[in-house]
Amino acid sequence: SVLSIHASQRLDSRGKPTVQVDLTTVHGSFRAIVPSGASKGDYEAVELRDGDYEAFQGNGVLKACQNVDSVLGPQIAKSGLDPAYDLKKIDELMIQLDGTKDKSKLGANAILGISMAAARAGAAARGLELYEFLAGESGLPQADYVMPVPFMNVLNGGDHSGNAMAFQEFMIAPVGASSITQAVQWNSETYAALKTIIEAKYGKAAVGLGDEGGFAPPIDRPEDALSLLVEAIAKAGHQDKIKIGIDPASQSFFKNGNYNLGFKTDQDNNLSAANLASYYRQLLHSYPVILLEDPFGQDDWDAFVDFNKDCGVELVGDDLLATNIDRVKTAVKKEACNSMLLKVNQIGTVTEAIAAGKAAYAAGWSVFVSHRSGETTDDFIADLTVGIRAGHLKSGAPARGERVAKYNRLMDIEDNLRYRERNFSYAGENFRFAYT
Ligand code: PGA
Ligand code: ZN
Repeated sequence: SVLSIHASQRLDSRGKPTVQVDLTTVHGSFRAIVPSGASKGDYEAVELRDGDYEAFQGNGVLKACQNVDSVLGPQIAKSGLDPAYDLKKIDELMIQLDGTKDKSKLGANAILGISMAAARAGAAARGLELYEFLAGESGLPQADYVMPVPFMNVLNGGDHSGNAMAFQEFMIAPVGASSITQAVQWNSETYAALKTIIEAKYGKAAVGLGDEGGFAPPIDRPEDALSLLVEAIAKAGHQDKIKIGIDPASQSFFKNGNYNLGFKTDQDNNLSAANLASYYRQLLHSYPVILLEDPFGQDDWDAFVDFNKDCGVELVGDDLLATNIDRVKTAVKKEACNSMLLKVNQIGTVTEAIAAGKAAYAAGWSVFVSHRSGETTDDFIADLTVGIRAGHLKSGAPARGERVAKYNRLMDIEDNLRYRERNFSYAGENFRFAYT
């Protein structure tokens, strides 16, 4: 059982306060730190912020920490629930103590920190690696493991950078590699090649980084971003083996019924959903794109449903679904997309995130695990991706500590599996259906 839980205010990768939780059992003290998004959807669980403008522009999380120390922690300790076997019940107790639908009373940041730390404590109590423990929680097979394809965001736009590019993320996906170690190497080589190309085309000042560690050169046409990637992949020698994913995060530029690709400049460039859809089709036709996330806004169901009919790529719902099982079920019924983005802090507990992912699997969809643009060196999602056999994850560029922490952990997991002579494979081309 849990002896005590303590939370502290620490910083995330954007320098904003976030919640760090230390949960203590007889097996030791277990830590988790909570991430935070910039292009957040309306259907996400609520991150409690102090709103005291004397400190951190109102972004402090001292109230959330206080809720851990004086409400959630003591109640969990009193309950006698054991992280080794009762993670779901611990999450349920926190949901009940909060009492709101969106965790706005005690804060999804407070609740998630405990949920993640409890999973770590549970794994330790049972002598398991975290990915094994999470595989057990998910009820998915544990006879072998599937290492994910790392989708690395190497060109940053949208709300994550200062350039004029409306689309938020351009990712490289080494589906033709044979292991996570090789996949990381290929992406790193492509990232280096991309830097050389950007320097040559746009000058030395153009290789500054966005929030997720990707470059943010002075470009605004998605075609230019995609051409840069194609060139970098070829220059690094990985042509045809590394494919591309795009997350326009289009909710960020949806306004008054239109999608404004000029939203970061004073030059409006408004497209209707139908025109934006034909533009996407053109891009998918011209470049080796295999994944498209949030091409339309979080309430633009009709546009999603129409595009999903014949898009031919993995169509991921992020803001659309918010890792919320009810929204997943609605989207399955409407046939609005074919993949769920999984961000633990969108829903606020580990077991609810896994349940939403399993609902996606049950519909024959894929699950794409994701970091947030505001991150920490906590590498929880690496283990989660392996544990639930998601087959792919995104954690930003192969640069900056909070991004590479996840990729480095995946390589640790691969080494660990090899050392223990466990069966495992690399998802590769089958990244969407690694769970089947
Ligand atoms: P966010 O962006 O973490 O800033 O919300 C990530 C995404 O849109 O996938
Ligand atoms: Zn997204």
